Amino acid sequence: MSVDEEKRNFLKGMIALGALIVVGGLAKPILDYATVSGEVVTTFPKVKVANISQLEVNQPVIFNYPLSNEPNFLVMLSQPAEYGIGPQKNVVAFSAICEHYGCIYHFRTSLAPYGGPDVPGGHCPCHGSLYNFLEDAKVVGGPAPCPVPRVILELDSSTGDIYAVGMEPPTIYSHGPSCSSDVSYDLQGGSVV
Ligand code: FES
Repeated sequence: MSVDEEKRNFLKGMIALGALIVVGGLAKPILDYATVSGEVVTTFPKVKVANISQLEVNQPVIFNYPLSNEPNFLVMLSQPAEYGIGPQKNVVAFSAICEHYGCIYHFRTSLAPYGGPDVPGGHCPCHGSLYNFLEDAKVVGGPAPCPVPRVILELDSSTGDIYAVGMEPPTIYSHGPSCSSDVSYDLQGGSVV
């Protein structure tokens, strides 16, 4: 390596280090702000929710996550789904709390009878919001302003155990600004499971 190259690499390293210091300095106050109320928890827990051998097609299992009063549907669909896990890529989990005004919605094997497409998903009895479970709970009907959040799942292929390890945005209804992408709000305001 020439002397010029060595100088250039040294300068690049210093710039990268400077950027890390700046970002690190900013990240800490943001994290503190996000954990200022409720329990101070900054990472999602890893919780076993079921064993894949217990799941039956289109028979949802309800589990609370990430807070102890927040229900979610874990369901094995009859066909592969976006972000589905398992051998058939058909196991998904979503918050059961409607993004419109927070009603608990119902899982339906088809949304067609409720004015939506012929896909499995969520139907809210309060004002008719529809969520397509094949497409990451995309809103396909009703007044919901955004999809319900997806629970991030992990499968231990050696045991078949399924774990919840986090949530994808948007945030659960009533956590932080409406449809926020800052999922750290999901950990605020109650007891973590
Ligand atoms: S609360 Fe679900 S559609 Fe209004």
